[in-house]
Amino acid sequence: GDVAVLVPAAGAGVRLGPGAPKALRLLGGEPLLVHAVRRIAAAPSVHTIVVAAPAAELDAVRRLLAPVAPVLVVPGGAERQASVAAALAAVPPGPDIVLVHDAARALTPPELVESVAGAVRAGHHAVIPVLPVVDTIKEVGAGEVVLGTVDRSALRAVQTPQGFRRSVLTAAHAAAGDPLTDDAGLVEKQGVPVFCVPGSEYALKVTRPFDLALAEHLLAAGH
Ligand code: C5P
Repeated sequence: GDVAVLVPAAGAGVRLGPGAPKALRLLGGEPLLVHAVRRIAAAPSVHTIVVAAPAAELDAVRRLLAPVAPVLVVPGGAERQASVAAALAAVPPGPDIVLVHDAARALTPPELVESVAGAVRAGHHAVIPVLPVVDTIKEVGAGEVVLGTVDRSALRAVQTPQGFRRSVLTAAHAAAGDPLTDDAGLVEKQGVPVFCVPGSEYALKVTRPFDLALAEHLLAAGH
């Protein structure tokens, strides 16, 4: 394998309601992070997995993942971007392709990991999986008054894993300013073209209680 996968898993998960850090919330009796890492490890290109965990949960996360796959576990940061930077700094020499994948996208199929990595291997410096936007999108201003309707055909919803030539991601993080919610955003700021590949409905991000309920159904159906 020529791929390292960074898994930011240090978020609190406030939108999911009160409870454990999000990556440790249970889905079918196992933490979201366990599901995510199992599927990453099943992708043949993957050589190294680095998880950024809540600082208070490092040992718990190491114990949890030991039976799942060989992983490095490092403390995450206050923002997702800091967690990714910490994981990136822990990647050993070797892998030339780095993917960043949210633990919250617990049911992401190994095939999506392979397709993103494959597009980087084929020469794209930055690759993101995307889905078309199904809802009409409006821009709204003060007082909940509509300012305008956005052209949906030009919009995409962005998932993870996002894939990068290692040097490109390292340079983007070194130059990073204010925290962004995704790594491709940092790379875009460097003027690097970002290429889109088809995403997967199963790579949904478990964010709100509804997502967790949906993920329970998908898991029970064999995904
Ligand atoms: O909050 P959100 O769903 O956007 O988080 C996306 C991913 O980033 C989650 O897997 C979460 O655990 C991770 N994260 C992190 N460190 C933070 C905040 C979020 O690793 N400080």
